[in-house]
Amino acid sequence: MKMKTALLSLVAAVSICCNPALAKDLTIGMSIDDLRLERWQKDRDIFTKKAEALGAKVLVQSANGDDAAQISQIENMLNKNVDVLVIIPHNGDVLSNVIAEAKKEGVKVLAYDRLINNADLDFYVSFDNEKVGELQAGAIVEKKPEGNYFLMGGSPVDNNAKLFRKGQMKVLQPLIDSGKIKVVGDQWVDSWLAEKALQIMENALTANKNNIDAVVASNDATAGGAIQALSAQGLSGKVAISGQDADLAAIKRIVEGTQTMTVYKPITNLADKAAEIAVALGKESKIESNAKLNNGLKEVDAYLLDPIVVTKDNIDSTVIKDGFHTKEAVYQ
Ligand code: GAL
Repeated sequence: MKMKTALLSLVAAVSICCNPALAKDLTIGMSIDDLRLERWQKDRDIFTKKAEALGAKVLVQSANGDDAAQISQIENMLNKNVDVLVIIPHNGDVLSNVIAEAKKEGVKVLAYDRLINNADLDFYVSFDNEKVGELQAGAIVEKKPEGNYFLMGGSPVDNNAKLFRKGQMKVLQPLIDSGKIKVVGDQWVDSWLAEKALQIMENALTANKNNIDAVVASNDATAGGAIQALSAQGLSGKVAISGQDADLAAIKRIVEGTQTMTVYKPITNLADKAAEIAVALGKESKIESNAKLNNGLKEVDAYLLDPIVVTKDNIDSTVIKDGFHTKEAVYQ
């Protein structure tokens, strides 16, 4: 018995001496841009559950689209001595200073879903966002190989929005050059808000006398706003329109025929992976990467997951099969 106790204290002593992160509880601060959008609530819930299962404590704050609020929430987390910051930035260009402060204090920083520019990040985890854009434009071109296209970009301060556009243009540019597609308007939607997308689409329809065949919208929230404007003109279902996130409302619009497609990004895979990476960063363990992205300051090690196209034809074998939405909720 005595021997066993001695052995146990030896083990404890070894783990305290050689791996300090294991000896104390790890605290992760999760700073979220905006919990008003459906997808981020899923990210928060799944991430927290997984990180807690791995033994970490998670503090969550949402800035609801406000840059200054996000910076002060991060400072607040630093005051609470978090070991790791997991950040979904609202504005990828304004967090360099607060991240420099974090790094000075030895806090590890993981950019989640959206890259943060000019900052000393430890890691970036996301989906292949250029691929998302290619899938969006590809599906719309398949439906409307020719005609007048309206481009609706996402938030102009979200690095992902730029990557989606880059991917979309890979598909669209050759068709623009050959004259098959004419871009009749191009606007970006502040904070990805549906009500802003609605206004933009109303104005675009007026300016083009309703002569629009396709809308390359970058996510489901903005597609939802645009479809409301199309509906008011009797055009929903006639104009091809893309989306992203497989939001329940978007999947229902795909079923009823007013939205052409969405891009499903299995959030469980992202959030679980991010929780594993955050814990590994806290423990200073090695992390597997499959990409590198330049953020203006450095080549950031990254892990990118694969996005999936969803149309009417594969709703059951994707989002329903995965339990992302129930069959009842989709078809009721
Ligand atoms: C992007 C994200 C999308 C979408 C959008 C609005 O950065 O990759 O999935 O949710 O923000 O929140």
